[in-house]
Parts: sequence; structure tokens; C-alpha cells
Amino acid sequence: MKSNKSIGVFDSGFGGLDILRMIIKKLPEYNYIYLGDTARAPYGTRSRELIYKFTQEAVEFLFKHNCELIILACNTASSDALRKIQREYLPKFFPKQRVLGVVIPAAEEAAKKTKSNRIGIIATEATISSKSFQREILKVNPKVKIFQKACPLLVPIVEAGEQNSILAEIALKKCLTPLFKFRIDTLILGCTHYGLLENKIKKITPSNIFIISERDIIPKKLKEYLIHHPAIEKKITKKRKILFFTTDLSNRFVRLGNKFFCKSIKVKKIKI
Ligand code: DGL
Repeated sequence: MKSNKSIGVFDSGFGGLDILRMIIKKLPEYNYIYLGDTARAPYGTRSRELIYKFTQEAVEFLFKHNCELIILACNTASSDALRKIQREYLPKFFPKQRVLGVVIPAAEEAAKKTKSNRIGIIATEATISSKSFQREILKVNPKVKIFQKACPLLVPIVEAGEQNSILAEIALKKCLTPLFKFRIDTLILGCTHYGLLENKIKKITPSNIFIISERDIIPKKLKEYLIHHPAIEKKITKKRKILFFTTDLSNRFVRLGNKFFCKSIKVKKIKI
């Protein structure tokens, strides 16, 4: 067991299960470990200090369980903790391991896709106030005008399993209508949970607006990363084993986990 190495996928809650499912679809051969910090979710309304502390503890858990590479499948953690983890924590404690986020790949894709240089972003309050998407988009294309909107109602709706309800539709219209008025031609779904609302978002978004969804981009980027980093790729065990951990095992995790992952999953509660 100790010699088995995995790819770790971390999210504050369930949203990352959707990203993991899409990653496994593209890269089924590897071992994976998923961790959802459901006891302390949502992260998106918390302070930067706390988001860093929680993320660092999650990363440490995954490394101690033999992950070679970790994907922060959480935009809030990617926005408020990733840089500090890469610059300060990894060199000191896990110099050979790597942690990647979801913001840079989505930002780069949006900057490439926009024709009018007008990009809209919806995300949690913490992600929006970190300006992480703005920073990464402007690195690629300084001419882009960015219109952002925090949508605090959407995560609780998804976590409650209400993503197909009329409530979800009302909340999405409230979030998106002001952005459409800015004549954006690209919309970033800057929260892992929003992938689960993609069908509803598509329904109310004008057809000239291109939707950037991390569930499509992250598996593709991870595949490219592994091709370009063969030393890391070689170390990861290819036995198709997937382990699921959560910090709060409620019936809801099992029920929603099964729903979001589209397969029955066995989850183990852990303390971090
Ligand atoms: N997973 C988080 C994100 O992508 C949303 C949930 C939360 O606020 O913890 O930003």
C-alpha cells in the first residue's frame, strides 16, 4: 500500500467529485484519492487566512496518503491558498511533490477564446475578491475587460442537491442577467460546483456567449501536464483504484456523492 502513489483531488465539498469523474473519464488508468472537507465547507465565504489553513491541512493529509500530485479542484482554495502552498509550503515540507489549481487553466482558456475581449466570471465571494481570475487573464491578454459577480446562493443550492430545481434557475438568472448586460462573449464558471449547473446555465445564456467549464478543461490540462512531466507520471500507480475521504460523513455525502460521481461510492470519514 505504501508504495502505491496516487493523484489527489481536493475540494471543500462535493463539487470536486464532478471534476474527478471527468478526470477519470479521460485518464482512467491512475490511482486517485478524493478528499472533500465537508465539515468545514463552504470555503467561499471564509477569510483568506482560514482558506489557506484548511487547504494546507488537506494537502498535508493527501501527501501523507502517498499522493504524488494534488489538484485543488476548488476555485476558492486555488485563489486564496495555491500560490502560498507552492512558494512556501512545498519547498519546505514536500519539495518533490506538486500541487496544481483550477484557476489558471480556466483563465488561460477564456483569454484565448474571447473575441470581443469582454469576459464574465461567476464565482464565490472569496474567489472574486482575490481577483485571481483577473490576474491570470490579464497576464495572457492585458486588453481584456473583466466583469465579475459573486454568487453566494449557488453553492448551497448545489450542496442541497437542488441543482435541477426552479430555485436554481431563479438564483442563476439573478446572478447572470447583470453580466449579460456588459455584452460579454465568454463566461467562466469559476466554481467547481457550477459544473453541476451547466445545463441550466446553458439554457439561460445567450448562444453567442462561450461558456468555460472547468469539468472540460481540467482533465485535458492534467493529461498535458502528465505528458510534460514524465518523472511524476511514471511514479503514479496505474491500478485504477479510487479512495474517497471526507471530514464529515453524513448520509448526505453518500447520497449526493453517488449522484455527483454518477456511481455508488464508499466514503471514509477522517480527521485533519
Ligand atoms: N468548491 C468551491 C469553489 O470552487 C465552492 C464551495 C465552497 O465555497 O467551499 O470555489
